[in-house]
Amino acid sequence: MLDFNFNNPTNILFGKGKIAAIRECIPAGSRVLILYGGGSVKKNGTLDEVLAALRGYTLFEFSGIEPNPSYETLMKAVELVHKESIDFLLAVGGGSVIDGTKFVAAAALFAGEPWSILEQRGAPVTKALPMGSVLTLPATGSEMNCGSVVTRKALQAKLAFMSPHVFPLFSVLDPEKTYTLPLQQISNGVVDAFVHVVEQYLTYPVEAKVQDRFAEGLLLTLIEEGPKALENPNNYEIRSNIMWAATLALNGLIGAGVPQDWATHMIGHELTATHGLDHAQTLAVILPSLLVACREGKREKLLQYGERVWGLKEGSEEERIDAAIDQTRKFFEQMQVKTHLSDYGINKDSIPHLLQQLKAHGMVALGEHQDVTLDVSKKILELSL
Ligand code: NZQ
Ligand code: ZN
Repeated sequence: MLDFNFNNPTNILFGKGKIAAIRECIPAGSRVLILYGGGSVKKNGTLDEVLAALRGYTLFEFSGIEPNPSYETLMKAVELVHKESIDFLLAVGGGSVIDGTKFVAAAALFAGEPWSILEQRGAPVTKALPMGSVLTLPATGSEMNCGSVVTRKALQAKLAFMSPHVFPLFSVLDPEKTYTLPLQQISNGVVDAFVHVVEQYLTYPVEAKVQDRFAEGLLLTLIEEGPKALENPNNYEIRSNIMWAATLALNGLIGAGVPQDWATHMIGHELTATHGLDHAQTLAVILPSLLVACREGKREKLLQYGERVWGLKEGSEEERIDAAIDQTRKFFEQMQVKTHLSDYGINKDSIPHLLQQLKAHGMVALGEHQDVTLDVSKKILELSL
């Protein structure tokens, strides 16, 4: 196992009716800015519950944080924070709202142009406003991690930053708040969480038995519960299991002390920035091709994954690896997420621009072996057509 420090300060409030408890988590007298997206939380009553829980606080609202939150929108929230001397941020929504709020938290106290936080050798974040979240879409793990992904539309750049200063202090995970999700977002969430586990597990063995078994447990849970969520959208137990699996998939636990990949995510970010695909759609397209292109470097783990997750024990090594990759693609398709670029109207003519963007963002040596060069990314994109 590799050396690691593990520190996760987010307090999780899990279950029905937990929004009421946020009062105990936000200092009395705070001037709180509630940030949300395009209005789902208004329609389904989540915002009303939040407002009721915070009666007596000085409250402000900022709406309109879009999926794949944009720097352009978030800088308007930063302005409001300054104008109203806000001292606490509360994100109410999915990963985009939470990521966006993290950026606002850091940008509001940043000396200089905040975009530099996201640029290639990102300027360090030394402080941020305190924040919490009420999660409405299990997928990204942003509710319990210190990462954030922001898009600058004008540059077609979708970039990430990480800082311990932007861990949410608390996150409410009430599975009932996910009942109004469109099926496409349930699917996206399951696929995103699945790929988060894979990016931290399917690399090379380092005898990290606890992390491996945890990761396999999360994958098996998502494989079992994901399709059920599409069939029984209002089942509390199914929603609970998916929600907790998605949080644990990217809160640092299974990634501590193991090599990590993340090439699928980095290539995927370019697909979203250029072609507007949902985050999970990009992952469903890229991961199966990446596993084909990187099968030698991942050989041992692919065999372990095939056996422990998909029950593949028969046949030669090559046959079992092929079958493991095939099962992965079939699972995404079963979750109603298409796995080829052509399904989204993208053809080979797009590849040169995508490679140019990867290069511009310094994504030229990706993966756990740093061997996903631009040539390998090209091969992965060609395999994805
Ligand atoms: O904007 P509203 O009206 O709220 O609608 C949203 C949005 O249209 C809707 N929605 C959310 N909860 C709902 C709901 N609709 C009905 N009922 C509910 N309960 O769902 C749509 C998508 O929301 P979004 O927040 O964009 O989705 P997701 O949670 O998948 O977040 C995706 C973003 O997170 C980033 C992605 O790159 C992408 O920008 N990621 C963040 C990570 C992190 N911080 O660690 C890791 C991930 O890999 C990912 O990169
Ligand atoms: Zn993701």
